[in-house]
Amino acid sequence: MIAKGIEIKPPSGKLGVLLVGLGAVSTTVIAGVEAIRKGLAKPIGSLTQMATIRLGKRTEGRSPKIKDFVPLAELDDLIFGAWDIFEENCYEAALHCGVLEKTLLEQLRPELECIKPMRAVFDKNYVKRLSGTNVKTANNKRELAEMLIADIEQFRKLHGCTRLVMIWCASTEAYLKPSAVHQSIETFEKALEENSPEIAPSMIYAYAAIKSRIPFANGAPNLTVDIPALTNLAIKLGVPICGKDFKTGQTLMKTIVAPGLKSRMLGLSGWYSTNILGNRDGEVLDDPESFKTKEESKLSVLEYILQPEVYPELYGDFSHVVRINYYPPRGDNKEGWDNIDIFGWLGYPMQIKINFLCRDSILAAPIALDLALFLDLAQRCGMYGIQEWLSFYFKSPMTAPQLYPEHDLFIQLMKLKNTLRHIRGEELITHLGLEYYD
Ligand SMILES: NC(=O)c1ccc[n+]([C@@H]2O[C@H](COP(=O)([O-])OP(=O)(O)OC[C@H]3O[C@@H](n4cnc5c(N)ncnc54)[C@H](O)[C@@H]3O)[C@@H](O)[C@H]2O)c1
Repeated sequence: MIAKGIEIKPPSGKLGVLLVGLGAVSTTVIAGVEAIRKGLAKPIGSLTQMATIRLGKRTEGRSPKIKDFVPLAELDDLIFGAWDIFEENCYEAALHCGVLEKTLLEQLRPELECIKPMRAVFDKNYVKRLSGTNVKTANNKRELAEMLIADIEQFRKLHGCTRLVMIWCASTEAYLKPSAVHQSIETFEKALEENSPEIAPSMIYAYAAIKSRIPFANGAPNLTVDIPALTNLAIKLGVPICGKDFKTGQTLMKTIVAPGLKSRMLGLSGWYSTNILGNRDGEVLDDPESFKTKEESKLSVLEYILQPEVYPELYGDFSHVVRINYYPPRGDNKEGWDNIDIFGWLGYPMQIKINFLCRDSILAAPIALDLALFLDLAQRCGMYGIQEWLSFYFKSPMTAPQLYPEHDLFIQLMKLKNTLRHIRGEELITHLGLEYYD
């Protein structure tokens, strides 16, 4: 366990942020950071930039901003790089994704045009709906991993980065179950050499990151780094990792509303969620194999929050359905509907309807930024392996094998802030508060 109030290495020099995939999320975070640096916009939705943290007693009035409390990299010190299967630079890709307005992108054009994607490690078998030409070729998956490691080193040298982090912001891959080759680093490396179909491209990126001692976050629901071979390698090499699947849109709402219903001991008979979504992510998720990966990630949330085994009368028998429908006219502006059938006193039924007209990548971009900054902080603190305190950002948080994941957004936030208090040697906040009445 990391010691209380440990010495934290300062964030001196440049932090390279390597994004896998230069699509809607990546271009929105890169363009957003550029816009914020130029004073054209504000970092809304980012805890690292906007949130405060209360320290000590409520009577002390100490609530600094998180970024003034822990030493985080400055936005001016971030350098972005990316891989993608398409050759479009960041400006072209951002235009194509249609998340941000053209007038804003025009003002950032020179900076965005400089970011050209490196050749990707890609295999159509894992993302059936896409094909691109900006792709590496090699004799086997081990060679592909070595090419990624070389890309990382080249980027590090070219931009003079003192530290790097990598975030998977690429398409959702087809569903893969953990299997024998994922169990140890020896079986994993053998499988790389033998080109095993059990090794998805995302695992090759994660492996390359960990081997290069770079923290890795997984923004999609793919298994990726969530296998013993890679989590153990991360521990061995002292690398922080986290995942999976950015918690935005409908699942964010679910993890806000469900803890509220449970806290009032209101029952649930059904939760039906459906979405229409028209971006490339929606197109990829229209493929049943990619959707299966997403569905697994979205479905588990309610089970864990509501604990049907602890509250069988309230949550023992609810039906939970999640649908994603690809509907091109909406682009990135997803529309989600939730119909929630609940019951109260004496079993009387009630309904809640939520219609969330959200912008997916606008919700995801600050998450990617925060993860980059917090993972870098974790590494400078000497933290490694699974970073459960970053569960706040994920739909299916990674945990130690013996633990169930914590999905309640408010518990996750408390865990995150208490972790920051712990590493800075401040008292943890329990909200007991009896001392005020002594
Ligand atoms: N709010 C959100 O947008 C949100 C929320 C949760 C999770 N996610 C996940 O984040 C990921 C990115 O979402 P997006 O909306 O930016 O999708 P997107 O389709 O706009 O971008 C993904 C990009 O990844 C590229 N790509 C695919 N496979 C690749 C590979 N092997 N190597 C390099 N590049 C590759 C694609 O060409 C594409 O440009 C998706 O997996 C999505 O499910 C997004």
